[in-house]
Amino acid sequence: MKQQAASCLIYLLSIFMSTELTAGNQSQEAALERRVAELLARMTVAEKIGQMSQVNGADGAVTDELASALRAGKIGSILNEVNVDTVNELQRIAVEESRLGIPLLIGRDVIHGFRTVLPIPLGQAASFNPGLVEKGARMAALEAASRGVNWTFAPMIDVSRDPRWGRIAESLGEDPYLHGVLGAAMVRGFQGDDLAVPGTIAACAKHFAGYGASESGRDYNTTNIPEHELRNVYLRPFKAAVDAGVATLMASFSDLNGVPATANEFLMRQVLRDEWGFQGFVVSDWASIEQLSVHGITANDREAALAAVTAGINMEMATTTYADHVTGLLEEGRIDMTLIDEMVAGILRVKFALGLFENPYTDPSTLPAMANAEHLAIARETALQSLVLLENRDRTLPLDAGKLGSLAVIGPLADDPYEQLGTWIFDGDPSLSQTPLNAIRQHLGERVEVNYVKAMETSRSRSTEGFEKAVRAARAADAVVVFLGEESILSGETHSRADINLPGSQAELIAALRESGKPVIAVVMAGRPLTLGNIVDQVDALLFAWHPGTMGGPAIADVLFGVEPPSGKLPATFPLVVGQVPIYYAHKNTGRPPSPENFTHMDDIPVRAPQYSWGFGSFHLDAGYKPLYEFGYGLSYTRFEYSDIEVSHAEIGMDERFTVQAVVRNAGDVAADEVVQLYVRDLVANVTRPVKELKGFQRLRLKPGEESRVSFELGPDDLAFYGRDMTLITEPGEFDAWIGGSSEADLRTRFRLVRK
Ligand code: BGC
Repeated sequence: MKQQAASCLIYLLSIFMSTELTAGNQSQEAALERRVAELLARMTVAEKIGQMSQVNGADGAVTDELASALRAGKIGSILNEVNVDTVNELQRIAVEESRLGIPLLIGRDVIHGFRTVLPIPLGQAASFNPGLVEKGARMAALEAASRGVNWTFAPMIDVSRDPRWGRIAESLGEDPYLHGVLGAAMVRGFQGDDLAVPGTIAACAKHFAGYGASESGRDYNTTNIPEHELRNVYLRPFKAAVDAGVATLMASFSDLNGVPATANEFLMRQVLRDEWGFQGFVVSDWASIEQLSVHGITANDREAALAAVTAGINMEMATTTYADHVTGLLEEGRIDMTLIDEMVAGILRVKFALGLFENPYTDPSTLPAMANAEHLAIARETALQSLVLLENRDRTLPLDAGKLGSLAVIGPLADDPYEQLGTWIFDGDPSLSQTPLNAIRQHLGERVEVNYVKAMETSRSRSTEGFEKAVRAARAADAVVVFLGEESILSGETHSRADINLPGSQAELIAALRESGKPVIAVVMAGRPLTLGNIVDQVDALLFAWHPGTMGGPAIADVLFGVEPPSGKLPATFPLVVGQVPIYYAHKNTGRPPSPENFTHMDDIPVRAPQYSWGFGSFHLDAGYKPLYEFGYGLSYTRFEYSDIEVSHAEIGMDERFTVQAVVRNAGDVAADEVVQLYVRDLVANVTRPVKELKGFQRLRLKPGEESRVSFELGPDDLAFYGRDMTLITEPGEFDAWIGGSSEADLRTRFRLVRK
């Protein structure tokens, strides 16, 4: 009885507190809106347009041109200025010498760390660890904020199913759910709970939307995405970012279904503002308003400005179509002042939320030092958890340091402090990088002889001149670790590739090393999934390290020598050959799904066989239908066994929550982390649904012999999708669920959603 009374009291108290909180939030929001409205009412048209204009910094200089534009209130934001004294001076001019004293947004691409460089975002995604990803973003925010940056152009949450696209490096891979969870974690990391707290910075979810589907992976290219696919796949991470409170979004360069994103009212108006209620602002991409005329959707800059502002682009990056034409458009009556007020209000809201009016200045001494021990530890842990073990024949790894007499370390990426950092690292410092070679030497100490041969000048070199020396070193060693991959410049913006094999003569290098007869361990650093079919049989172990950042070396050494087992899982499918692209796990079933029964390899078809005498299936005659490595895949030094999958109730009401559970057991002899994954399939729906969709994941550590019952809680919302009429629905019916260690998990159960 007493207990009941107590819980009743707690319940009432919680209702009271949440009403109080909501009331508190509401009054805060109302106060913010009042401040925005009051300021707007005092602004001239020119000042409003000024807020909508972002210019590039002048490399640490406060030029006369910049200063006078600031005094005249013609600039709302500056990007790429990271000299803190300059930033403070620019803020001072804006605040003290312009009529209204509106502080500046200082934007920067803080994509995977700042001075301390984390693994590329695609590598971070391999950790399947939102807590760690959040910490990384927090650390990057602190470092960037100490330079006066208050706005990052991250996270990049473009779902991409095309490893040819160079920007897949900046993304979180192929899956909308993983993207949503990790993207939201990054937003929380950058923004914290309160943007006004020093050291937090505004995030920018980009590129809205569809960019990752650029045709053939060529950057900036066309995308054609049916609306339900757009909503079910590409928009989902953006919705998650908006729900996490992201302050801003960036429009994509790409053309979406005939209307470039920068002029796309459906995206900016209907979806973002009307459906999702987004209150922040949208920035164009670099010159993407001007480029509307290059796309051929507008005839000139004036029309481009009209199209962009009408669609809902609040701020123009780098170009001046707003500055040059918005006044004229207002005078001609082609746009209304209410539209401009709405655009400016979005920007002011973010400036107020950042507390810039109260304190526009940065005092680095109040923020943690760059690249401090804690930051390096986060970078190391993230690099560690991003490493994916793809092959490990006869338990080649981990190497037993105690038994090694000598080790050959070969390859162009073994000791390259710059290349291991990856793409988009404006503020990274290669001199901080700990390379694999150094880390290996440190780990092994004096006792083991480490013989290093670079063998190739760069990852692209075609010369085989250095091979002989490398093979000699391999012959003289007990084992060979070869560091291959792509230099950082081969991925990232504009750096798409049509052939995603290891470039240059790296495959030949592997073949030559094979001849040494010594165990060959390949560590691949790259900005994208590569096709590794031509080396996979030539190596004893294969570790995929992405571009692992500042602390890549020690993380790799830890895995090579078994200080820590590998635990990363692939956030994107690795095709067997590039011609399979797009190939991804959450594909549709088709009417003729491929199977071992209907697949025939072209080598097995007799000459002049009749066309229809072979299986009917959706596959390639030469490459089959499976990738080399599937999404979610990654080996460990131990073995995990899955059993006893069950759903909390076989029949689930349309508004009931339920759990899917299974037992996972460490069946090996090493303590290790496993990323347990839950996949679901909706068997029959009003639009065809993927054969599997990731619906949950958990990273957990198990000791040898230890087991754990892992439980995922779902509700009908988690099973919802956009159907034929483009509304979000959950349909009754049967669903399959799998729990396992990759997207090819086969431990399955079935449940039914019913109208009770
Ligand atoms: C990229 C954006 C980036 C911007 C500013 C553009 O080229 O597409 O992602 O934020 O430049 O550097």
